[in-house]
Amino acid sequence: MCGIVGYIGTQKASPILINGLIRLEYRGYDSAGISTIEKDGLSVMKDQGRVKNLYNLKGIDNLEGTIGIAHTRWATHGKPSQINSHPHMDNSKTFSVVHNGIIENYNELRDFLNNNGYTFYSQTDTEVIPNLVHYYYKKETNKDELAFLRAVKNACSDLKGSFAIEIICKDFPNNMIVVRKDSPLVIGKNEEENYISSDIPAILSFTRNFYFLNDLEYAFLSRTDVKFYDSELNAIHKETKNIEWDAASSEKDGYEDFMLKEIYEQPTAIRETIGARLSENTKCEFEELNFSKEYLQSINKIYIVACGTAMHAGLVAKHTLEKLCKISTEVDIASEFRYRDPLIDEKTLCIFISQSGETADTIAALKLSKQKGAKTIAISNVIGSSITREADYSIYTHAGPEIAVASTKAYTSQVILLTILAIYFAETLEMTQIDIDTLKKDILQLPKKVEDTLKISENIKEFAKKVYQEKDVFFLGRGIDETVAKEGSLKLKEISYIHSESYAAGELKHGPIALIEKGVTVIGIMTDKKLIEKTISNIQEVITRGAKTLIITNQNIDDKMFDEVFHIPFTNIFLSPILSIIPLQLFSYYISKEKGLDVDKPRNLAKSVTVE
Ligand code: F6R
Repeated sequence: MCGIVGYIGTQKASPILINGLIRLEYRGYDSAGISTIEKDGLSVMKDQGRVKNLYNLKGIDNLEGTIGIAHTRWATHGKPSQINSHPHMDNSKTFSVVHNGIIENYNELRDFLNNNGYTFYSQTDTEVIPNLVHYYYKKETNKDELAFLRAVKNACSDLKGSFAIEIICKDFPNNMIVVRKDSPLVIGKNEEENYISSDIPAILSFTRNFYFLNDLEYAFLSRTDVKFYDSELNAIHKETKNIEWDAASSEKDGYEDFMLKEIYEQPTAIRETIGARLSENTKCEFEELNFSKEYLQSINKIYIVACGTAMHAGLVAKHTLEKLCKISTEVDIASEFRYRDPLIDEKTLCIFISQSGETADTIAALKLSKQKGAKTIAISNVIGSSITREADYSIYTHAGPEIAVASTKAYTSQVILLTILAIYFAETLEMTQIDIDTLKKDILQLPKKVEDTLKISENIKEFAKKVYQEKDVFFLGRGIDETVAKEGSLKLKEISYIHSESYAAGELKHGPIALIEKGVTVIGIMTDKKLIEKTISNIQEVITRGAKTLIITNQNIDDKMFDEVFHIPFTNIFLSPILSIIPLQLFSYYISKEKGLDVDKPRNLAKSVTVE
């Protein structure tokens, strides 16, 4: 999705802005641009293509301005092109704007501005913003700072949709205004300079002190100061939050790609996420929630709502919550949930999972659940992210920044956090059906087992070399293993572009088996002892039809039946998805490398999906 960077300080802004954009590249984009305030007014330099192309633009080295805004665009309105790239200026070249999000009523605003003498040069929704600001600014008699702020506020009041906006004005060479609604933006504070970014890692090497804006709050920045205003321009006070993430962890640290680094960071991410919440002889702690037994007994249903990989973590948690707590749990895709009028009341608990905390559909689903009276919990990896500011309660995974588009360590951290949450509920409810003490011991041993799994998973590279030219791959599993099949299949398609599907193994013969023929690769996940014989029968059905098979298991099986068997360490069934996904993450990774693809930035995908 689009990325935003801003700088106001004492150094030359352009290299800082371009470096910031490079750090946001992982979000996905098709064009890039910067705008600075120079001695003779506003400068805008932009182009289609990679951020580094900006270095080739004529005159970019001559920019001296110490205040500027920058943007990577992921096309929504209008094709990728130089003219559609941000920043956009108003007709009089007084204001320069970058915008992340979608202005839903831009056609209406364009007509209004056309009727008032404004001309549009791009096909974007964004170009209405600088012109609308200019329209209101023109009406101000006294062109002071407040006039600038009021013009931006009046323009934003007319906008429908989502936006994170940075705006500079040639009349105010020492100021910048930023505002957001349903789109991410953070402000990093230093002594004589301020940084703006769509997310924390891009500016973490400059500062640890961050301001977070709520919807429709305005920040008026100078070099040394940031003033905050609410949606009616009443002054408000904000404190910075200290972010403890290690700046080095957003660098590649010697790994070839972020995805590989993040796969190998899983033991640490899981260890950090377990943290002090769980120990062998005491009850699980969730001070943030502090739910009573009576409250948990009153819950009629749990909904887990998320998108993509985060939703797959929810599918694992459904198994755990239902078995440990005996509370009916439904998992829903956020973009469906929000439009299907779900049956929710004040006895429903809704859990929303979002690594970034900025996924538009998940946030909208959360807002809907709150309106309907449910209690809401957000699970996120990013402190201060939008979803955590909307939810009644927020709990965090401690995976550290995840840069590769394909989620790995965030997923396994979400699964472990949700498992501990299920234990917390079960202990509070005084449930006794499942041996929770053993599960706790198994959780504490898990980071070591993840390390062991990573060591042996290197061997999957050889199998990846054998199948990287395949066109179709099927993933099969039963019970909790089916959730891993889903996640394995998603990982493969997103970074290797190989068509893949996942099925509950028993469902295959009800249709999809028609697709199985000689040479098709089928991957079976088998970690549930109770179901293993059944899954083996299903795999035999595909072997008979000529499929090549890879099995991921922690059980004793007859290896000779299959082309390849991958033995992972044994663990508790509720934790097995965390181990069985690891060889599949590496399988997808090596296939992508074998095909020479950009593992970290797969085509058409964005890290943070901030539009619906
Ligand atoms: C796939 C992947 C996506 C995200 C999804 C939700 O590897 O990363 O499917 O899981 O876009 O993102 P968050 O968790 O940020 O809400």
